[in-house]
Amino acid sequence: MIKRNAISGYKRAAMLCLLITAVVAGTYAQTGGAKSGGMNTFISNLMSKMTLEEKIGQLNLPSAGEFTTGTATNSDIGKNVKEGRVGGLFNIKGVDKIKAIQKVAVEESRMKIPMLFGMDVIHGYETTFPIPLGLSCTWNMRSIEQSARIAAVEASADGISWTFSPMVDIARDPRWGRVSEGNGEDPYLGSQIAKAMIKGYQGDYSQPTNIMACVKHYALYGAAEAGRDYNTVDMSHIRMYNEYFPPYKAAVDAGVGSVMASFNVVDGIPATGNKWLLTDVLRKQWGFNGFVVTDYTGINEMIDHGMGDLQAVSALALKAGVDMDMVGEGFLKTLKQSLEEKKITLAEINTACRNVLVAKYKLGLFTDPYKYCNDQRAKTEIFTPEHRSIARRIAAESFVLLKNEKETLPLKKTSKIALIGPLADAANNMAGTWSVATVQDRSISVLAGLKAAAGDKAAVLYAKGCNLTEDAALEERATMFGKTLNRERDTRTPEVMKEEALKIANEADVIVAAMGESAEFSGESSSRTDLDIPGRQQDLLKALLKTGKPVVLVLFTGRPLTLNWEQQHLPAILNVWFGGSEAGAAIADVLFGDVNPSGKLTMSFPQNVGQIPLYYAHLNTGRPLPEGKWFQKFRSNYLDVSNDPLYPFGYGIGYSAFTYDNLSLSSKSLKGNQTLKASVTLTNSGKYDGAEVVQLYIRDLVGSVSRPVKELKGFQKIGLKAGESTKVTFEITPEDLKFYNSQLKYDWEPGAFEIMIGGNSRDVKKEQVNWTK
Ligand code: BGC
Repeated sequence: MIKRNAISGYKRAAMLCLLITAVVAGTYAQTGGAKSGGMNTFISNLMSKMTLEEKIGQLNLPSAGEFTTGTATNSDIGKNVKEGRVGGLFNIKGVDKIKAIQKVAVEESRMKIPMLFGMDVIHGYETTFPIPLGLSCTWNMRSIEQSARIAAVEASADGISWTFSPMVDIARDPRWGRVSEGNGEDPYLGSQIAKAMIKGYQGDYSQPTNIMACVKHYALYGAAEAGRDYNTVDMSHIRMYNEYFPPYKAAVDAGVGSVMASFNVVDGIPATGNKWLLTDVLRKQWGFNGFVVTDYTGINEMIDHGMGDLQAVSALALKAGVDMDMVGEGFLKTLKQSLEEKKITLAEINTACRNVLVAKYKLGLFTDPYKYCNDQRAKTEIFTPEHRSIARRIAAESFVLLKNEKETLPLKKTSKIALIGPLADAANNMAGTWSVATVQDRSISVLAGLKAAAGDKAAVLYAKGCNLTEDAALEERATMFGKTLNRERDTRTPEVMKEEALKIANEADVIVAAMGESAEFSGESSSRTDLDIPGRQQDLLKALLKTGKPVVLVLFTGRPLTLNWEQQHLPAILNVWFGGSEAGAAIADVLFGDVNPSGKLTMSFPQNVGQIPLYYAHLNTGRPLPEGKWFQKFRSNYLDVSNDPLYPFGYGIGYSAFTYDNLSLSSKSLKGNQTLKASVTLTNSGKYDGAEVVQLYIRDLVGSVSRPVKELKGFQKIGLKAGESTKVTFEITPEDLKFYNSQLKYDWEPGAFEIMIGGNSRDVKKEQVNWTK
């Protein structure tokens, strides 16, 4: 009886909502809804009926605890939902569970306000795409957008309305485990990817397959000192604006619905309590009109940052511009008291509450709180053959061929292959870090992929060869959500395992070594100081090489590794990151040449850890090395290693060779708003059809502040048949020359510029122009 009343009560409220929102909902979809009067009136009406506690309740985001990245636990969620103390919930998977909780919110709570259901849908839902660092190496914005679109289709079919993605933190220190979750070192590329992801997730919010994105971690999280997760960040404003802020701003420009504050300090104040960051820059300078959520217990962690007790840090966060408190319940527990003590204002609570309600409105939850709970869709739209085949194509596109001597690759399907390594038969490790919705062991392993592709033509022999590392304790620390995904440690002695591997290696025509890091070695709280392939695996590689058989390293990693030995000695290295659900199938596609690899690195690979941070867009210094030298006394260099990366940003080869000729400029002297056209002739001079990422870099030779030696300003991924040539043209306008000067004014300065085009950041053709105002 109570239930029925509740339902009809909800229906009455919903009808009212419908009356008010039906008209605006239609226009909302077309206009993006930013200034819809209907929405504002609706929310004002709603808020006029809410108690203070209910308003504070909207700011509370507990974790349902199915996957955790922290330690705090929330108080009774069911009771809190019923009593109007929860605005959203995350870390919960499954449409039935979500529907049941939504039902309590909209039928049993007094205000019947629907909840947001969030999840870290980072690189796919059940159909898992490559880890973001891998995805970025496709340099294909259509593929990246499509991956986000499919993630949104699947997540929305399963009850999720909000994803904590994209992560766009610029990262130049591969010791930091979370480089795997981002798009590498470059602000321009990172900005393009941010836009593509948001478009893929959010669309225009008009469809039940559009979910809200959350750009993170605002800001500068990727610059943690020494690559140690959560560590201090300290940088100049000019660097923030020119190098670290652009992808967040691009996300705001693309209409991202929410922003997650980062864990680190910015200018000495934790981002979560930093008003300059969350209000002055984000809202006033960039015009952000969505809502800000903390990271997991971000408010509580300000106590450890030394900013005061729970009440003080909660007030600090609210006043800085935080709208929603993830997990820590600081808002829930202290805002009322802070209001009574006049430490915060009602207007501040109202603003935060309104921002959260606007998000729910934009998503259409007031019109249909079950918009994302469609059992039928959940049964038919998740992990579909179509999604999987797209994931397979995109995975192959993310692989970066680092070396291929004497045409070791592609392999013949008729060869006898010895597949060896701890990651060769590790289906549950293929999805990589932050793949919470993935059914891990449903992914395709390398062994399964090779066998399926070769059919009965090739013989694929397999041996594990060794455990991932020698150090069982290290392996135990490396977990994802407290779980290890790969490893039953093999209890046989290293000698016995090696012997088994050498036996099949000696029988084979070629050795494929599936080695590197496991998925749990990168991601959150997974920083490393040693970036070599773990020793035990290297020993095995050396032994395999001694057989005299060609060794192809299929490298799994969530970060740039130091691969000097491998580069020197192995004939072929294919970096496959973590390719997602279809990893093994995609690896087979590339190894057998059904797909010609076209990925290019988005993070420089250092020669050794001592060079870090190492990135292509560095300043020149007053004592740069003369070109062609790697050491000179009293110059900026090291005694023991050159300044060069092992593999530069933008690098990656394929089975074809691409040549660049005839860099030509439409003019060498330009004025004002003219457009410069820069072209090259690109030729596929190899025997395979393939695709090449043509990259445009610019250097501003003279400025009021020192400018980087190169900055990426454009790229095009061009497909060419073997033997074919084409002219590739970039258009450059003064917009591409702009930067933030020491007054943080965004403008361009006249003078000389180098225009460079090439297939990576090192090997470029260049010309100079003069551009006056
Ligand atoms: C991570 C975020 C993530 C959040 C929720 C945190 O520990 O830093 O990236 O979105 O947990 O799972």
